Amino acid sequence: MKAAILSLLPLFFLSACQVPSSISRSAVAMPLPGELKVALPPLIVGLEGPTWDVVRPGGENLSAWSKPVNDTYTRVTTSRKVVAITFDDGPHPENTPRLLDMLKERKIRATFYVVGNMVKYSPELLRRMIAEGHEIGNHTVTHGNLARMSDEALRAELRAAHDQIVAETGVTPRSMRPPGGAIKKSQKELMLREFGYPTILWSVDPEDWKRPGPAVVTSRLVNGASPGGILLVHDLHKPTVDAMPSTFDQLLAQGYEFVTVTELIELDEKVGE
Ligand code: NI
Repeated sequence: MKAAILSLLPLFFLSACQVPSSISRSAVAMPLPGELKVALPPLIVGLEGPTWDVVRPGGENLSAWSKPVNDTYTRVTTSRKVVAITFDDGPHPENTPRLLDMLKERKIRATFYVVGNMVKYSPELLRRMIAEGHEIGNHTVTHGNLARMSDEALRAELRAAHDQIVAETGVTPRSMRPPGGAIKKSQKELMLREFGYPTILWSVDPEDWKRPGPAVVTSRLVNGASPGGILLVHDLHKPTVDAMPSTFDQLLAQGYEFVTVTELIELDEKVGE
């Protein structure tokens, strides 16, 4: 059924008015004027999916989550041996395709917090990410310090990046990561309320942007990983991508399963902290 729904997506985007009757009404409720209806990538076995989502240009996006979510995550609580690996600041025209090849070879899915000012140079890479089962999150347009911005400037950054991702892929970003982790509590609440975005931080930061060398990046990630963890790295940097084959293989050998950030949140066994 999941495959059937996904295979019908191109048809659905072309004409929302001609919905095959074999799809359940709840999954294809007719969009109201001005709304865009999109599907997320399939979730892992045992979870609901695909999740249908409504985005209103005014900024509301409150129906995306199947349960209450926190305004911030650095990790989740789960008995399953899962991690979410996140790649920030791309897409990079050379490093990101190389990384995508590595992920594909191992059937690993990741989450990319892309920057609008990078997306405009390689928009096709966003489509490849989605086609290969990855998730894309909002990392703003300019990669500025959000904590120093007014609410209006914050909204403008997020809205422009959100619309860019939807325009390129047809898929709605579900979460955001603040550049440098700089964000205020009131801003987190605003983003969850108006965009449906939890703020995604991390449990492991190997400081790969300081270029400590691929072996160090790998050892910090492998040693720091724990069930429910969120790993932070940057596909902007070549040595980081160089560190990935060994990182992936060691974590897979330890029995870790890689999930996207949305999947990780859906797996959280602790709700309403
Ligand atoms: Ni960043």
